[in-house]
Amino acid sequence: MKNLDSRSHVRGESVYLDDIPVVRGTLYACVFDSPAAHGRLVFINPSEAERSEGVEKIITAQDLIGENQIGGIIPDEPLLAESEVHFQGQPIAIVVAETEELARKAAKKITVEIEALPVITDPRVAAANGDLIIPPKKFVLGNTAAAFANCQHVFEGRAGTGGQEHLYIETQGAYAVHAENGGLKIYSSTQGPTAVQRAVCRVTGLPMHQVEVDVQRLGGGFGGKEDQANAWAGICAVAAQLTKRPVKYALHRMEDMRMTGKRHPYSADYKIGLDRDLNIVAYEATFYQNAGASCDLSPAVLERTLFHATNAYYVPNITATAYCCRTNLPPNTAFRGFGGPQGMFVIESAIAHAAERLGVRASDIQQKNLIDDGDEFPYGQIAESDARTTWTQADAKYDFTRLQKEADEFNASSKYLKKGVATMPVCFGISFTKTPMNQARSLVHVYTDGSVAVSTGAVEMGQGVNTKIAQVAAEVFGLPIEMVRLHTTNTLRIANTSPTAASAAADLNGKATQMACESIRERLFEIAQRLVEAESPEQLSLADGYVRRNGERTSLDWQTLVMDAHLERVNLSEHAHYATPGINFDWSTAKGHPFAYHVYGTAIVGVTVDCLRGRYEVDYVKCCHDFGSSMNTAVDHGQIEGGIVQGLGWMTMEEVFYDEEGRLRSNALSTYKVPDIYSVPETIEILPLQTDRKNLAVFNSKAVGEPPLMYGIGAYFAIRNAVNAFTKGGVVLPFDAPFTPEKVLMGIYEK
Ligand code: MTE
Ligand code: MOS
Repeated sequence: MKNLDSRSHVRGESVYLDDIPVVRGTLYACVFDSPAAHGRLVFINPSEAERSEGVEKIITAQDLIGENQIGGIIPDEPLLAESEVHFQGQPIAIVVAETEELARKAAKKITVEIEALPVITDPRVAAANGDLIIPPKKFVLGNTAAAFANCQHVFEGRAGTGGQEHLYIETQGAYAVHAENGGLKIYSSTQGPTAVQRAVCRVTGLPMHQVEVDVQRLGGGFGGKEDQANAWAGICAVAAQLTKRPVKYALHRMEDMRMTGKRHPYSADYKIGLDRDLNIVAYEATFYQNAGASCDLSPAVLERTLFHATNAYYVPNITATAYCCRTNLPPNTAFRGFGGPQGMFVIESAIAHAAERLGVRASDIQQKNLIDDGDEFPYGQIAESDARTTWTQADAKYDFTRLQKEADEFNASSKYLKKGVATMPVCFGISFTKTPMNQARSLVHVYTDGSVAVSTGAVEMGQGVNTKIAQVAAEVFGLPIEMVRLHTTNTLRIANTSPTAASAAADLNGKATQMACESIRERLFEIAQRLVEAESPEQLSLADGYVRRNGERTSLDWQTLVMDAHLERVNLSEHAHYATPGINFDWSTAKGHPFAYHVYGTAIVGVTVDCLRGRYEVDYVKCCHDFGSSMNTAVDHGQIEGGIVQGLGWMTMEEVFYDEEGRLRSNALSTYKVPDIYSVPETIEILPLQTDRKNLAVFNSKAVGEPPLMYGIGAYFAIRNAVNAFTKGGVVLPFDAPFTPEKVLMGIYEK
């Protein structure tokens, strides 16, 4: 079944923030942001801007009625800089004017005096200075010190990954409109309507019941709007409060790139120990996370790096330590995979390192060490593992040996073009690692004409969650999908929502919807039992718009049943609550059962590198992926293809570059390359894992949003293998992603 939004998307009828009709009298905001990455804010001179055409007001920190604070996990992030600035792009003042253009024009006229302070951009330097946002986090299993002593082979090294710009097609933005009695209605392009509501309340001083947040859909979020939509909503709310007029702000692309945080770059040290038979016996990793200037979601991202530090492998002895380092960059934030990919890259580097030294294929080490049923993850959860089955089924379908042989044969007769192949197993835990966040609610109304309206806490951002939730309601009520309509995500209808993140939105909100629909169905069956003279409700079911008795269609159709129930004063609405059962995690021991389940997969990636020019192409990504049993293969394949391409981009061409002054140099699409249609691999093959295993996913259909991104990591190692085929081991390349064409060239011709 198609994504329900595809028709309106193609016709240009889908409604995004910027499509919402503006109320008469609306003003437009523009932020004046810090030109320096670190310094004392000596003074702000807004007078010329104030006199600029169409300007209504200039707002600085002193003007706020509420608290000047939007930090979620730790209160370390002012809405507007007060006495110091901590990154280039940090909001200092808000210009509010009659049009967008006039607001932007005026913002350019603000001047500031900043007394420079030292700029730190390297997380290792921050750690050495003791500038950590939270104390270090650690996972320990077994005893690495003792285990290394008995290892046949031990290798040590350093591995690092770069940042990644979210590049959602729709930039950040918000629109604040007044409601009666001092309330505010906020339209926001956010993955977390409740997070926006809380931030708005904090900066305006309003209680939560005075602030309504409404989200129709996002033109992409990818984690970048989980927490970082709050600032823009806060800015519009404050401006609306102080000017008593509606205020809108939709960021320009370069404002968005400059002022918002990205995927966290990491630098890490690793040490891996193997026995004679290539079993990984011990693994140590120390992660330095570049958190940026304030906390944002960094600690949670850091935790997931630890959770996925051993990827899909069983390692009996592990010590993984992670530092959350404060630097003078925009606060880095959630990005598809949420720290997991950064952790996985390091163990894959360690494996590649060992393989290169030992003269074996990395895939031999990978396959040997895949986690099996009953093995323990470093955080104490016992694996119900399909790591090996995805590997075996992928190998059976794609024939890893043949693909490798093809590359070897090609390389033997090609001087400058070299092919590289790499396998990439993935294991990704599904649930928010912060257990209390694993809850959701759904409000279902059945109207008297039989049509169904559903509201949940899930935000549609292109991933098809609304389609899946509509499918759940249609399935429970036995109705065609057209009878179900998903409504906006709104804090008045659904309160206290968790953000749409952690790939868990369809599971959590889908389950709540299933529960709500089942409750209504139960009440309807009481009425139907009488109408069709069934002995018990157990004999009844709903399909194709009719009531069935013992599987046989009766003459009682859905509309009649619904209307009869209404006339008998039966409640046709339900608000249901779902909380994932059986999950827990205790940070005092760093052990527990944090995930409802894991998603497994194995990909094989093939590339061709032009070793004269450094350019390359990804020829194929072929994977066996664990869907459980997919509810919607069209949507899920879209998620896998998109995830893979986003992962390839992160590993190859996307290079977030800040200079020593903390200025973003890759600040536009001319200097920041993302995959376009030409860089998408010719072949992406997806084989669904054949499995009967039950899981906690909605209708057994496993979460799919983030895990496929990590198949892209295979591209890095495939490029590396191609380069090694050219240099024949003559150069030792650093593990330093992304592997841009420039780095390929410089790597090969280092001397
Ligand atoms: N797909 C599209 N098209 N747009 C997005 O913004 N975000 C990803 C993923 N797929 C995203 C996407 C991220 S980061 C997450 S966590 C999941 O979708 C969230 O949605 P889900 O929980 O419904 O899978
Ligand atoms: Mo996704 S990074 O959990 O929004």
